[in-house]
Formats: sequence, C-alpha cells, structure tokens
Amino acid sequence: MRESDWDDVIASAMGPAAGYLASLPERPVYRPADPDDIRALIGGPLPEEGSDPAEVVGALARDLEPYVTAHASGRYYGFVIGGLHPAAFGAELLAATWDQNAGLYAVAQGVAIAEEVAAGWVLDVLDLPADSSVGFVTGGQMANFTCLAAARHHVLREVGWDVEADGLQGAPKVNVVVKTEKHSTIPRALRHLGLGDSTAIEVASDPQSRIDPEAMDRTLRDLEGPTIVCAEAGNINFGSFDDYQAVADVAERHRERGNPTWVHVDGAFGLWARAATSLKHLTSGLERLDSWSTDAHKLLNVGYDSGLAICKDSAAHRAAMSIQAAYLVQADGGVRDQMDWNPEFSRRARGLGVYATLRSLARSGVNDMITRTNRLARLFAERLSASDFVEIVNDVVFNQVLVRWIAPDGDHDGFADRVLAAIQADGTAYFSGTTWQDRRYMRISVADWATDESDVERSVAALLRCAEAVE
Ligand SMILES: Cc1ncc(COP(=O)(O)O)c(C=O)c1O
Repeated sequence: MRESDWDDVIASAMGPAAGYLASLPERPVYRPADPDDIRALIGGPLPEEGSDPAEVVGALARDLEPYVTAHASGRYYGFVIGGLHPAAFGAELLAATWDQNAGLYAVAQGVAIAEEVAAGWVLDVLDLPADSSVGFVTGGQMANFTCLAAARHHVLREVGWDVEADGLQGAPKVNVVVKTEKHSTIPRALRHLGLGDSTAIEVASDPQSRIDPEAMDRTLRDLEGPTIVCAEAGNINFGSFDDYQAVADVAERHRERGNPTWVHVDGAFGLWARAATSLKHLTSGLERLDSWSTDAHKLLNVGYDSGLAICKDSAAHRAAMSIQAAYLVQADGGVRDQMDWNPEFSRRARGLGVYATLRSLARSGVNDMITRTNRLARLFAERLSASDFVEIVNDVVFNQVLVRWIAPDGDHDGFADRVLAAIQADGTAYFSGTTWQDRRYMRISVADWATDESDVERSVAALLRCAEAVE
C-alpha cells in the first residue's frame, strides 16, 4: 500500500479546527461577503501539477475560515439551524476517518450496528412506537420524501396497486391534503414522488398556522380513495403544533368510510418537543399518526447533514426504499442494511453523530437541552417585547419567535429589512427574515445547545442597538 503522511494532514486540518471551535464564543457570527473575494482566494483553473495534501488543507482552512458562518455559535438564530454537540463532532471525525460505505451491513458492520442502536434510541427518546422503522437521511427534505414514499406505497397497495413496480401512470388517483402553511419541502417531496405539488388540496390554517381540523374534516368528506395527509410539528414561522388528536380522529373517520389513509407529520424540529417532559403535551396524539420526519442536525445538534425518516408501518417503509441486486451481499435477517430504509445506495456513516450525541446527552441531557431551548425563546420574547420597536406575533410555545419591527414612520416592512441587514453586518448575532401574509418579519430560532442566557441578553442588546441606528 502506498503510504500517506496522515500526521501532516491531520495537523493542518485539526490545528485550525481547534482554533475555530475555541473562537466560537467571541467570533463574528456572520460576515457579509463579496463572492469575488472568495473566488479570488480559492478559485482559478484546475492546476496542472499537484500539491502536498497538507498544504491544500492548510490553505483551505486559512482562506475559507473568515467566510464561515458560525452556525455552532450560541448566537446564531437564523432559519432553523442547529449547532454542533462535541460528541457529534468527534463522531463525525471518526466517520470521515473510517470512510465507511454504510449502505450494507456486510460492507461496514460496526457502523450498521451503531445505526441500529441509534434508531432504537431515537424511537425511545421521542416516545414513538418501538417497532417503527428509521432511515438515516440527509435532512428534513429527504425524510419527508422517504416517509411520503412509504405513504404512497401503503395507500396504493390497499387498493391493489403496486406503485414500485407499475409507477403512477394509470394508477388510482391519490388524494394529497396539505395545510396552507406547510414547509416548502412538502410540495418538493410530492413533486419528486410524481404526486404533483399544485394538485395537493390545501386545508386552511388557523392564525397560529396550525391545521384547522374542521376544515380538514370537511375536505376529507368530499374525497374518496387513497389519501395522504401532511400535518406538521413545529411551524417554520410560528413554531406551532397541530392538534394531532383531532387530526387522528378525522383521519380515522376517513379510513372508516373505506378510504386508505396515511397521515405524515413534518417534524423537522418540532418532533423534539416529545423529548422534553414539560413540552411533550404539545405533541399529544402524534403517536397515533403514521410517519414522522425530523432532523438530527437541528435541535439534536448533530453536525450537518443528518435527518431521520420514521414510519410506523415498517413494511411500507421498506417496500418503498429497498433494493436488490445480484452482486450485493444483503442481510437476511438479524441485522439491517441501511439502503433498505434510505433513498441512497452508497452513503457515509451518517448515524454515528446521532449515536454519539444521544449516548453523551442521554435522556436527561436531551430533556434539559430542549427545555432550555424553549426557555431561551421565551426570554427573547420577554426582553424584546419591552421595546416600543417590537411586537411579538406568535405564541412562543417552543423555539420560534416571530417578530414584527414597528417603525416610527410606519414603514414596518422596510424597517424589518433594515434591522436584519444591520444585525447581520454587525456580526454579534444572526437572525433571518420571512414574508408572511405579505408582511416582512424577523424570525428567531433558538436551536443551539450552546446558547445560554448571556447570549440572549447580548443579542437583544445588539438588535435594539441596530434598530436605533436604522430607525
Ligand atoms: C418544518 C420543516 N420541514 C422541513 C425542513 C427541511 O429540513 P432540511 O433543511 O433538513 O432538509 C425544515 C427546515 O428548516 C423545516 O423547518
């Protein structure tokens, strides 16, 4: 075997990595950049002659680090982006080092068992039915895709149609029911699955963006045949939760009228409310539904990318995803081949981060982390609402705070965008915006295990300072 100088390359990556992680508490969270500046540093034509790997890695660390957004900072509140738990970081280093193709048990036994164990822990900590199946995917988008593929399989199989073999051409119509305030990855998953996004029937949401179960009931009463309903745990703007008992009751009645029905829950971040004793009530009845997607890279603070597709009907999940090929060595019971539960064939050992984070935090640590997330979101709302510049729009039930900036001159939308640009340029903290019902808002998403009270106080002070400056 040709030898490599691993020590040099490890030193050139790990020295800067350690420096970066140590700088997180004080480094600017974000720095607006000119893309040409970055291109000038790392671009140019493909070199004709090679370079020493350690030099390449050292230059990459030096040149790109100033343009890295500090997602793992305690003061990053943009979109819904989780931080980096140290156990996840360490496990990712091992995953990169071992370079396992974690698609088949036979190819990478150790990491297959780590994912098997992690899958059981995920079901346990989220209190979902213990015989549900779990696929480790790249994120919420692919988790929605995977669960909805299982849903498509199930509702069509119930009417005697094999969608995996025969596709959708000539298939019985599948009714898809979504809420008006769904996340954009739901229509995208429907597109990928050939179900179409504009053909999905929208059900009204209430003022906190929760599905209206009575409207859902009226909609379903007009439908016949295979039906997929998409509910949500944790709305992107409001952080709100649907009434799952009511949704399950409505779905049950639809099923009793002879319609094969599957209810999927997009719980990219909200599903983690189930892991906190004081917040679990928000998800009451969710366990009665059929599939759940969530992210580990959001509230669990596993590194990117890491999502989880969970189905109560494991046979439907497997039928939608599994693959056979004569040259593969496939498990025949007792162990799991990950490629039976994911859309990917070859893949990295993504589940190691989930394993290590759950092992390190344990049940009590996850409970504390999710409880703290909610407490800090409420602290944001309390502090900001004391200012005349701010109106808190949502009921802060979980980790999201929706802020309306109130401009003295009445141009509230323009003020929101000016405050956002100012705080992003300031670098103390990062917040992102949204347009809801034609108005501009700022969203605060508390999603980092590292965030503490002092981060919130410092971020609020910076926001109000920016608001004063641009009012
Ligand atoms: C409710 C919801 N669903 C799905 C997604 C997509 O998740 P991912 O970015 O991990 O694909 C998000 C992302 O923020 C989300 O908030």
